[in-house]
Amino acid sequence: MADAPPPAIGIIGGSGLYDFEGFEGREEIEVTTPFGPPSDTLIRGTYAGRQVYFLPRHGKGHRILPTELNHRANIWALRSLNVRWIIAVTAVGSLKEEYKPRDVVLPDQFFDRTSRREHHTFFGRGLVGHVAFADPISAGLRGLLHEELQGLEARVHNGGTYVNMDGPAFSTRAESNANRQLGFDVIGMTNLPEAKLAREAEIALATLAMITDYDCWKTDEKHVTVDAVMSHVAANVALAKSVIARVIPRIPLEPSWPEHHALEGAIMTAKPYWPE
Ligand code: ADE
Repeated sequence: MADAPPPAIGIIGGSGLYDFEGFEGREEIEVTTPFGPPSDTLIRGTYAGRQVYFLPRHGKGHRILPTELNHRANIWALRSLNVRWIIAVTAVGSLKEEYKPRDVVLPDQFFDRTSRREHHTFFGRGLVGHVAFADPISAGLRGLLHEELQGLEARVHNGGTYVNMDGPAFSTRAESNANRQLGFDVIGMTNLPEAKLAREAEIALATLAMITDYDCWKTDEKHVTVDAVMSHVAANVALAKSVIARVIPRIPLEPSWPEHHALEGAIMTAKPYWPE
């Protein structure tokens, strides 16, 4: 068997982030997985001497709804290329007054309000496994993002709970108020399944959540509209690119964080097989 490719870094781009410039030796690659194709071709290159891959979550030009995303294909494709760290960029709504549009949140918890959970695991079909997920975000990667965001003088909130709804419609006001009463900080439609699958794939993942709106609980604000979301997204994309560029050279060369051994403590009958 050929030598494994070097441990690599993956960037999943969310709404508004469909490309990442500055990769040396940039090429687009098509990857197939046992779960079908990922959201798009992947962009491969090197950045600061590191092997990096970029995948636009919703496809270039935003073609795929949150509930239509093939998260398993996306994470499998990255893992099959030996991606061991993922920075997942995502637009979120704020559930707290002090978390303002264009602020950045680095969540450390998720709450699951999705309904398609059979797509959120690599286990099943005879392969039984239960991986620990009490701390769903890589503390190491979140720490690097936090330090570099502070260096950029960004408005950043380190920690918080991201509630993952199905969408595509935004919440009702009753749902938004209930989410606030439960103490959640931000709401989005995509990140929890990525974090679960990354944990099963022994990838260290951190979410870079960029606030685009106050959801609909804040009645002195205009309700969330796609136009408002997209204007804040555009403003946030430059910040996302700057912080990622600063974090990449600080990621260790070898995967030696706890998330990289997540299956060692898991209850399971067999390990998923990652092609090399
Ligand atoms: N993504 C961006 N804003 C959102 C909101 N208010 N609810 C769910 N997902 C979002």
